[in-house]
Amino acid sequence: MARLIELTLNGRRRIDAVPDNLLLLDYLRGQADLTGTKTGCDGGECGACTVLIDDFPRLACLTLAAAVSGRRIDTVEALGNGGALSAVQRGFHEKLGSQCGYCTPGFIMACAGLLRRNPQPSAEEIRAALGSNICRCTGYVKIIEAVEFASDLLAQGGTAP
Ligand code: FES
Ligand code: FES
Repeated sequence: MARLIELTLNGRRRIDAVPDNLLLLDYLRGQADLTGTKTGCDGGECGACTVLIDDFPRLACLTLAAAVSGRRIDTVEALGNGGALSAVQRGFHEKLGSQCGYCTPGFIMACAGLLRRNPQPSAEEIRAALGSNICRCTGYVKIIEAVEFASDLLAQGGTAP
């Protein structure tokens, strides 16, 4: 069975017909052509597929596309503005928060969600917000520094998470 879903994806309204059993991850990558969201473990363990649903991080590999009708979905492609990096993207760039990069879109979306809800998080709140994301390369210290950098940028104003 297929059904129509209507959602706001990266700021744009769209309507799509999707099979009942289509994962949000496969909808984004295969139907919406948004390949920034990565497939990692495909089982809810790694966080590589993290997207924002109404500003809260969710795992696209554990979410049905049919379940997000009426919601606001943001993927990593939504960040930045006209070529200018978002605060979190700048943080990852300046603090070397990315090495091989495979985990990076998921981390960036988890960080962006945190900073949208809480622009000035404590180090403990940052660690808690990133608890569902795994990185095999960086050792996490650089990622936490990236979030702190982004938080400082937000405090100065003029940029979005
Ligand atoms: S691919 Fe979704 S949690 Fe790993
Ligand atoms: S940068 Fe390689 S897995 Fe995180």
